[in-house]
Amino acid sequence: MDRAETGIKEFDSLVEGGFPRGFNVLVVGAPGTGKTLFGIQYLFNGARAGEPGVYISLDMEDGKLKRQAEQLGWDVAKFEKENKISIVKVPLNREKTRIFDTVQAEVERIGAKRIVFDSLAAFAINIDQFAIPLAFDDEIDRILGRSGPMKDGVMYEGNSEKRITYLALNKLSEFGTTNMIITDTISDTNTLTVDGVSEYVCDGLVVLKSLAIGETLSRTLEIKKMRCSKMDGGIKSYKIDSGGISLN
Ligand SMILES: Nc1ncnc2c1ncn2[C@@H]1O[C@H](COP(=O)(O)OP(=O)(O)OP(=O)(O)O)[C@@H](O)[C@H]1O
Ligand SMILES: [Mg+2]
Repeated sequence: MDRAETGIKEFDSLVEGGFPRGFNVLVVGAPGTGKTLFGIQYLFNGARAGEPGVYISLDMEDGKLKRQAEQLGWDVAKFEKENKISIVKVPLNREKTRIFDTVQAEVERIGAKRIVFDSLAAFAINIDQFAIPLAFDDEIDRILGRSGPMKDGVMYEGNSEKRITYLALNKLSEFGTTNMIITDTISDTNTLTVDGVSEYVCDGLVVLKSLAIGETLSRTLEIKKMRCSKMDGGIKSYKIDSGGISLN
């Protein structure tokens, strides 16, 4: 199976060379675990290898995102000029953004092979901001129950967060790109993600954790699932420094 290398060598070697093409890989972690950094690194390394990518940011203004990249010596602005990276800041204060139309337009404009979606949690929390042009799907209806009304092919109201998440992930895989989907974890519950459904729907699942013990911050990465891959199991430790994320 063809792979999209993350460019983080030690990570790629754990999953037969990278994310399987066309997959949705969920990256879950608490605030500050390095999810956004992992996303930028994935797109930057992709662009370097000649694969354009779109970064969809719901959490952060794109200026901040670029500064974060530049601090690590990654010249995102150059790749933007060359149409190898596109950062889409999705506004969260406007009426009914047709978010997936915007994503599709950018994917087509630069011929993207990769998408980073940051984050699914922010998307679900702000769900009333979006009009989501998603068709009904009998199978999804069977699993999640019939949903609310459609107008002009666009769903508006009455859809549960779980259902929206499910449909959003389906929509992202329709672009044929290899996608990193970022989301937040919640502590003290049995579900891993805020929405409680994305970990089952996604093709891959990577969990980032950080634990402060005294003066030391210990960071761990676990690949919990990667469909179609023989994966090297176990919890790996990783660090974040001037080179970005690396596993040791
Ligand atoms: N140059 C650096 N050296 C060491 N650590 C760094 C460096 N740059 C960033 N970090 C670490 O990376 C972390 C930020 O990562 P990032 O913003 O990707 O987290 P996140 O998981 O996306 O957080 P959030 O959920 O709040 O969006 C910080 O906690 C910081 O400790
Ligand atoms: Mg982040």
